[in-house]
Amino acid sequence: MRLVLVGPPGAGKGTQAEFIAAHLAVPKISTGDIFRANVASGTPLGQQAKRYMDAGQLVPDEVTIDMVRDRLAEADAADGFLLDGFPRTVPQATALDKLLADLGTGLDVVLELVVEDDEVIRRLSGRRTCRGCGKVWHVEFDPPNVEELCDRCGGELFQRDDDKPDTIAERLRVYGRDTAPLNQYYGAQGKLVGIDATGPVEDVTERAIDGLRSYGG
Ligand code: AP5
Repeated sequence: MRLVLVGPPGAGKGTQAEFIAAHLAVPKISTGDIFRANVASGTPLGQQAKRYMDAGQLVPDEVTIDMVRDRLAEADAADGFLLDGFPRTVPQATALDKLLADLGTGLDVVLELVVEDDEVIRRLSGRRTCRGCGKVWHVEFDPPNVEELCDRCGGELFQRDDDKPDTIAERLRVYGRDTAPLNQYYGAQGKLVGIDATGPVEDVTERAIDGLRSYGG
């Protein structure tokens, strides 16, 4: 299955992507994760991406599209994938459609995680990530047993630079302007399935998997 997960910053895309990708047995491809890995290892791509990410802006389309094209050419994505955080603009969506059409295939479904802004702000401001294994926690909704330490690997937890209040506000503004139009784009293709992403993580996963059934998931 070829699937895209969309939704505002902090909707729970990364959290749900893990479970849905495992359920479908496809690789999870997160453009945010790829950019953060490049920032952490100081590559030229990471240096270029960092200034946009820290400002809550999108990395330019051409950079992002080239990066995804390379990733989708890897062997593990040949029979299916779950894209988390891409596409994020209409030009990225048209580039993805063209890329897949050239390979003689196309997207099966686009899952939209629907959450109101005030919930998104609570989720982002309380998010903590493990420096060791990358697991994502939340100070209120999914706290570790020992404050600021990862239960899974004992690593130190940190707050993402782009989860500060001013940057969150900018990311939401950019989402409304550049990414929300994708709903119309994929709605017109008959591929958009909206999922209520409020409530416990397991309930959201169940709704998402139910939503995929009629698309062969
Ligand atoms: P990216 O990492 O993709 O950020 P995002 O879309 O803003 O999404 P987040 O990772 O912030 O949130 P999420 O929806 O994955 O939520 P999560 O599961 O962590 O991108 C970062 C930046 O990279 C962008 O701003 C941009 O600069 C650049 N970039 C990336 N892709 C790009 C592209 N295609 N084009 C251009 N630039 C791009 O959950 C959030 C918190 O909520 C966690 O603490 C979690 O534990 C908690 N939580 C999750 N589910 C629930 C629940 N049901 N109930 C309670 N808490 C929950």
